[in-house]
Amino acid sequence: MPPKLTRTIVLVGMMGAGKTAVGTALARTLGVPFLDSDEEIVKAAQMSVAEIFARDGEPFFRARESEVIARLLAGPPAVVSTGGGAFMSAANREMIARLGVSVWLQAGLELLWQRVRHKNTRPLLRTADPKRTLSELFETRAPVYALAQVAVEAEPGLSIEDMAQKVVAA
Ligand code: S3P
Repeated sequence: MPPKLTRTIVLVGMMGAGKTAVGTALARTLGVPFLDSDEEIVKAAQMSVAEIFARDGEPFFRARESEVIARLLAGPPAVVSTGGGAFMSAANREMIARLGVSVWLQAGLELLWQRVRHKNTRPLLRTADPKRTLSELFETRAPVYALAQVAVEAEPGLSIEDMAQKVVAA
């Protein structure tokens, strides 16, 4: 029997860290719902993340993101995957620490790049040099992700199920 979850697990970390994939497997293992903050924002706005950034700007997206996280944390214990920028907000971090437990899915830059390079869904990577942009985000964000309550490292050979088990163990 998996342990009974008493607080919502909030997965944080860079784009490409596997938050959605691992979160889905983790929620299945724990027998709780899986929720994804990006998906909730998209559902409410009826627009893609890229469209929201283009039409309303990043601050608008960030405000919706904080609202969604607050709403999800107010619900029953679940596994919540957040967008890569969500944990950069001190207010979000405080809310997550108070009502849930933050888990940083830690992955190396090369692995992240291999996972995101062929996708065009992330507006922050629509730059002249997306690899460099990813690397800069990685450098500035890693010390903030390190404030998470738990860190779990994604090694290249590990399956999604293995990663979910690692989070349960941690
Ligand atoms: C972002 C990551 C994306 C999405 C948006 C901004 C970021 O989510 O929220 O494009 O700031 O790193 P994923 O981490 O799920 O790709």
